[in-house]
Amino acid sequence: MVIAPSLLAANSGKFADEARRAARSGAEWLHLDIMDGHFVQNISFGPDVVKTLRPVCKMFFDVHLMCSQPEILLEPFAKGGADQIIIHAELGEAQVMPLIWKIRSLGKKVGLAVNPPTPIAVAEPYLKHLDLLLVMTVNPGFGGQPFIHECVPKIQQADEWRREQKLRYRLEVDGGITNETAAECAAAGADTFVAGTSLFRKPNMKAAVTKMRKIINAAAPRPEVAVATEEPPVAAYNF
Ligand code: DX5
Ligand code: ZN
Repeated sequence: MVIAPSLLAANSGKFADEARRAARSGAEWLHLDIMDGHFVQNISFGPDVVKTLRPVCKMFFDVHLMCSQPEILLEPFAKGGADQIIIHAELGEAQVMPLIWKIRSLGKKVGLAVNPPTPIAVAEPYLKHLDLLLVMTVNPGFGGQPFIHECVPKIQQADEWRREQKLRYRLEVDGGITNETAAECAAAGADTFVAGTSLFRKPNMKAAVTKMRKIINAAAPRPEVAVATEEPPVAAYNF
């Protein structure tokens, strides 16, 4: 199981300290939400912030691009220290596959995100190319929103595909994740949990991470099958 605190909920005046706090909490990944004011109605931060955080935090950097033109950002984020770059399925067929190839060519892991109103079937053609599938459990743009329970069957479907097709992508959830909703997602097959408010807004993040991990492990229907963070990308491409 991977827990990924989302820096969006951190004190933005102290990002370096907050990243260190996340690293000390026992969480494996740091989730970095990139918003462009166009794909979503909010602006967060860019590649320079990631580059500044890279030397102070050894965690796996999970970069979630909520951006209309991710192609102009892939290289800066790759160079800035992203370990994985997630793009959105809503960008459309014509964009998604070339973006997946580009992320791979930069030597980074590839994630694909699906928003709550988007049918999970939209992700199916890409599954074998992914290291991670992100089922959004809020409409992206802001932290602190309530979990949308109607997204849970999408997690179950994504987990079913993974088993049927013998694939090993991680199955991530993001938005409104608390101990209760994390348990619901873990029971549905999720293995990677992004949590902003419920981790960064706790004075003792380490205790919060330990508790969340215990709860998701207890709720998981079976041992994990997803790839380990350290493993190389699932497929190599020639360009
Ligand atoms: C939503 C972002 C999330 C967000 C989650 O737009 O993609 O990563 O930070 O925040 P919480 O956990 O507060 O819902
Ligand atoms: Zn996110």
